[in-house]
Formats: sequence, structure tokens, C-alpha cells
Amino acid sequence: MNRKVTVFLTALIFSASGFCSCGETETIEIRPDSTLWVPEESQKEYFSTEICTAPEYDETKMIPVTSENEKEVSLLTDSVSVSDPLPSPSDENFGYSENNKEPGKEDPKKEGSFVPAQESPSPEVPVKSQTPSPLPSPSVPPSVPSEISVELKYADGVLIVNKSYPVPSDYVPENLILAPGSSEEYLLPEVCDAFREMSSAAWSEGLTLWVQSGYRSYQLQTRLYNNYVSQSGKEAADTFSARPGHSEHHTGLAFDLNTITDSFAYTEEGKWVAANCHKYGFIIRYPKDKESITGYKYEPWHLRYLGKELAEKVYNSGLCLEEYYGLTSEYSN
Ligand code: DAL
Ligand code: ZN
Repeated sequence: MNRKVTVFLTALIFSASGFCSCGETETIEIRPDSTLWVPEESQKEYFSTEICTAPEYDETKMIPVTSENEKEVSLLTDSVSVSDPLPSPSDENFGYSENNKEPGKEDPKKEGSFVPAQESPSPEVPVKSQTPSPLPSPSVPPSVPSEISVELKYADGVLIVNKSYPVPSDYVPENLILAPGSSEEYLLPEVCDAFREMSSAAWSEGLTLWVQSGYRSYQLQTRLYNNYVSQSGKEAADTFSARPGHSEHHTGLAFDLNTITDSFAYTEEGKWVAANCHKYGFIIRYPKDKESITGYKYEPWHLRYLGKELAEKVYNSGLCLEEYYGLTSEYSN
């Protein structure tokens, strides 16, 4: 049974009270720490959060079923089949997760223990786990275009994604794989290799690095961004959260480390990363004092993979990526 199906069934087993026989109606009781989702046009299928945020599903059409909106629903066992075409980690175009938070916001407070990055984590090694909460629905309508159709922007062969250069809304990086030590965050293979090397080096110095947030779909970024707009207003949100299509997380080449708070910069891990990440092919993408150029507040936790040679050059230049390539980062509206 693949991992996704296991997660799915586990979610049901723990969350559905009195799982019933085919066609019967049951009251499902969702534990406060559980989240199941149901497609809005059908109440026959349930998905754990991580499944519903997979690219195969349109998140905007999924309704969270939580302890708050616990309700009578029809559970049809034939919708819970291990032969359902649920995504698996080995599938191409597999990637999602909704644990992403942004600066100055609530710490995700992930549960579980960290596992240092390793080539092939053995199944018995516990992996960090989490039970994400659903994001509240935004109280304002989306303030971004529903689709973006553009060419990818490359500078000297390097994919550029910022406020000036979006990726198409249907863009999904190929061959996303689970990030080392993570059970739910996805990145491109070369980024995983570099992260594995970096986190091993940090680990040998007694430091712990983990991938907090990796690939994000356009749909997930839409929900995140709109949520921040509803909480903080558009002007403020634009200083720390990318509009959908404009996030580097969409590329599978960038990720957030450890805790997404300003204090990360002052932790031993944060200091080590700032001094060493370029040796492993990464840059801190939104440096301090470059806010007016990158368009974003300082994010000591957000790393962009460039490869060792280029990362060394950018680091030694003291420039941010926009300065290095002479590019802007500005929305046109
Ligand atoms: N926090 C960065 C800018 C993002 O949303 O991609
Ligand atoms: Zn980030």
C-alpha cells in the first residue's frame, strides 16, 4: 500500500467515528487535531490535507471538515479504495503541503522529532510529522489574476522568479521528490542532494536543519497569499508573501528552513546557514538591507538553490540576485 493511501486510511480510522458499511450515513467526529477535506461537489471522498493539496486536486474546490464544522455526511466505503488513483511520492508532478507560514506569523509548531538528512531513511526511523490546521477562508476576494501565462525567465541559465517575473500558473516542476528528512515537503532532486550535504555538515557540528516548507503549488500560494491579504492588507502582505505565480517555492528550487521567524537569524543554525550555505549551493534569497531591491523583507530562513559555483559568486559579490543580474522585482499593478 503506498504511503498516501496509508495516510488517507489512517486519517479516516482516527477521525471517523463508527466507520460504516457501504452506503450508510454516519456522523463523523473529527478530532481537534485532525483535518479531513471533502470536494465541494461531492461528499463521498475524504482526503487528508496533504492529499487534497496535491496538484491533482483543485484546492479551491476542497472544503475542510474540522471539529468546528463537524456534520452529518454520507460515508460510502466504495470511495475509500486502496486502488484509488491517489498520488504517491514516486509519481511525477507530486508535491504539496500546507504547513507554510510567513514571517512574523504564527510558528507552525511542528510535532515530532527531527531526523538528520540521510540517503535512504529506514522506515523505522521516526520522521518529523505534523497535523496542519486549515487556513481560515479569506474575507476578501482574491486580488490576483486567476491564471498566469508567461514564458519562464532565465538569466544566464538561471530561473528567475520574483515580483517582475512569474511562472505560469500551471507550472509544476518535474521530478519533485521528498526533501531529506521530510515526510511531506518536496523539492527538486539536485536541491535535495545539496540540502543533504549541507544538513549533514551542520549536523556534524551539532546543528539541526530541516526543510520547513518546500514546493508550493499555485493553488496553495493563492490560499496563503489571500489569507495574508485578509489578515494584514495587501500592501503589507506584498512585503512578505509572494502573489501566486511569483513565489520561488513554486519552482522546487527554494525552501524555508527550521522556524520561519525573525529570530532564526540569531540561532546557532541561522548563523551557520548565513555563513556557510553558499558552500553547498544556496543563497539567502532575501537578504537584510536589500528589501527595496528584492521586494521582500529579510528572510534568513528562505534559501534558493543556485549550485555551488554561482552561489559562491553571488555570496562573494555581496549582491542580491536581482542586483547580480541587473533585474527588477516589481509588480506591474
Ligand atoms: N515569502 C516568500 C517571499 C514567498 O512567499 O515566496
Ligand atoms: Zn520561503
